Parts: sequence; structure tokens; C-alpha cells
Amino acid sequence: RVLAGRGRDLAGRRVVISAGGTREAIDPVRFIGNRSSGLQGYALARTAVARGAEVTLVAANVALPDPAGVTVVPVESALDLRAAVLDAAERADAVVMAAAVADFRPTGRSDSKIKKTSADPEPIHLAKNPDILAELCDRRREGRKPAPEVIAGFAAETDDVLANGRAKLARKGCDLLVVNQVGEGLAFGTPDNAAVILIAEGDAVEVPRGPKEALADVVWDLIAARLV
Ligand code: CTP
Ligand code: CA
Repeated sequence: RVLAGRGRDLAGRRVVISAGGTREAIDPVRFIGNRSSGLQGYALARTAVARGAEVTLVAANVALPDPAGVTVVPVESALDLRAAVLDAAERADAVVMAAAVADFRPTGRSDSKIKKTSADPEPIHLAKNPDILAELCDRRREGRKPAPEVIAGFAAETDDVLANGRAKLARKGCDLLVVNQVGEGLAFGTPDNAAVILIAEGDAVEVPRGPKEALADVVWDLIAARLV
């Protein structure tokens, strides 16, 4: 579909977008984090509002101004993000997981700052975080709430980008997976992005390098087409 034809095609739709990157506390001053800026998630929020959607943006550690007309729910950790997304998803037609969710968290968060001593430091033990995207898809498949009509994920891949993406989409059970190739001045912290959007039924849509808004609009085109 052409740009001019989009109009307010998401009017009356409720969408939930996760953005940014989670932080997993080690002690009161330190965390395990990642390089996600939140720019792609915020671009998704702005474009969805422009197309008439009611938008909840679950924002993990993002240093960006709140987009106008969007309900922003700030979160820190993967467990916080899971709770906020599952709650907002109860009322959502579509969920887009653009956040970089930490796969692991330190098992025992120290209540006091870990001090440096003459001894070698204790290792940090990690536990697996829940996979929020997979959980949303599992619940929908089992007919449990929340069951948004469309569920989309993002994946940054290196190496065999498309094969990794296809396997990931199947493993998660989502409808769309936006696959970014990491590197070459793209993805993290940059205004531009390039991606291949994999569709559950087998198609793929290539989005050439361009502003994150342009990629966001193609994502909404594909989501709008799946909403009945
Ligand atoms: N995701 C999630 N919960 C997690 C990890 C990831 O909901 N605990 C979501 C991300 O928001 C993203 C998608 O799953 O939309 C893919 O994330 P990615 O890290 O690429 O997938 P993983 O299954 O964690 O695989 P990998 O081993 O490649 O990190
Ligand atoms: Ca991961």
C-alpha cells in the first residue's frame, strides 16, 4: 500500500508496544543492560497514533520524550515489563514487542552495594527471564487471556539472519517477526533501520534502509491487514 493511503486505518484499535531495553539489577547501583535506545518502539508509537490507534507504550529505560497522545508505562526489569505488557494486552488488538528484553537476570540482587575488597569478586549467578512474546503467543493458542489478535516481535540477528529469523518466528508462534541485521551503522541508537519482516504464513517483506518511522509504517500496514 502507498503512504498516502494509510489515513486513520487504525482508528478504534488498541495497540501495545514495548520499547527500550530492560535492566536487571545486580545491586542498588549496578545492572545488566543492553544497547537498545527505544527509537524504533517510539517510532512505532508515533506512527500508530498518527493512524488513529489508542497506544500504550511500555518503555524500559528510554531517554526520549513521551510521544503526544500515548499512554507511557515506564518499567525497569524484564519482570516489570512482563507484568505491564500482560496487563495492557488484556485490552489490546495488537502487541508489538520492540523492547530488548534481557534473557537473564542476576538470581540474588544484593540490597547493599557490592564493595571492592582485596579478594576476587564473587561470580554473578543468572536465572532465565520469562519469554514474554512466547508467553503471549502460547496463551493465545491455548485460548487464555490476553489474546491479542496480532502479535509481532523484533529480532536483531547476525550470521544467518533469515534462517535464524524464520526459526525464531516458528519457535515463538508470533504472526510477524521484524528481523534486523545488526551492524553497518544500523539498528542500535541510529535513526535509520533496515529489516526483513517475516510473516507466519511464509511471506517476507523487505524494508530498505530508511527512517525508523518508515519501517514502523510497514509494520502497521501488515498488522492492519490482519485485523478483522
Ligand atoms: N522477547 C521477550 N521476552 C524475552 C526475550 C525476548 O518477549 N525474555 C521478545 C523480544 O521483545 C523480541 C523477540 O522476543 O520481540 C525476540 O527477541 P530475541 O532476543 O531476538 O529472542 P530470543 O528468543 O531471546 O533469542 P536469542 O537467543 O537470539 O536472544
Ligand atoms: Ca534474547
